[in-house]
Amino acid sequence: MIESIKRLVGNKKREQGKKELLEQIKKAPLPEHVAIITDGNGRWAKKRGLPRTAGHAAGMKRVREVIREADNLGIKVLTFYSFSTENWKRPQEEVEYLMKLPIEFLKTGLKELVERNVKVQMLGEKSKTPTQTQQALIKFEEETKHNTGLILNFAINYGSRDEILRAVKNIIDDVQNGHIDKEEIDEQTMNRYLLTKGLPDPDLVIRTSGEIRVSNFLLWQLAYSELLFTDTMWPDFTIEHFHQAIAEFQRRSRRFGAV
Ligand code: FPP
Repeated sequence: MIESIKRLVGNKKREQGKKELLEQIKKAPLPEHVAIITDGNGRWAKKRGLPRTAGHAAGMKRVREVIREADNLGIKVLTFYSFSTENWKRPQEEVEYLMKLPIEFLKTGLKELVERNVKVQMLGEKSKTPTQTQQALIKFEEETKHNTGLILNFAINYGSRDEILRAVKNIIDDVQNGHIDKEEIDEQTMNRYLLTKGLPDPDLVIRTSGEIRVSNFLLWQLAYSELLFTDTMWPDFTIEHFHQAIAEFQRRSRRFGAV
């Protein structure tokens, strides 16, 4: 009896703590653009004796929750690193599963995204993905292109060095065909040639699962981002973890090279 009362009190306190955290983060400026490297799905599954694909399914659930919460909070841009250009090296079965996720998400999630006025964009070379996946990615973009709310980017078949190389080649082409003057090339020019054209740089980059590296993700864009690495595996990353990450961002002092 006493144990159950203690548990009840404990739960109530935890709920109160979560509420207070949410109130606290709402009082300070939010990051405009949050980018997330959703890592640890495979290890999460392995620890439970499950196939790696079960980790991705659990991870997908967290992706949906974080999208909802980012929208609820009024964050402007949310970017997920969902599939890198290096991820093709994974076992065929796992790649096939990952490529099916956008198709599934289209069926079960598009309606809510449209209702929420979310604009979905893909960063990466869609044409290399299987036909059905490609069609789903295009449909997401098409169906939401006029939306004016949260901008939701999925980096799929994305690699930042490749993105930068393409930008450089396109700039060279445009210098040669006279569209731009070499002397006028500056950081803004580069921004216009990247896949993130028109978007603010990420203010906060979160990587789950304890890995402390950026793995070819938005290398140009994260020059001044606050980086947050957490040991939590992505399928365990709750809304409370998301709020804690934002609170940590709000505690940091951003100087952009100044004093
Ligand atoms: C990294 O964990 C995770 C991925 C490569 C896939 C993440 C994708 C999602 C969460 C869903 C994306 C959603 C859409 C709509 C495209 P890992 O497999 O590298 O884990 P490990 O490091 O523990 O092996």
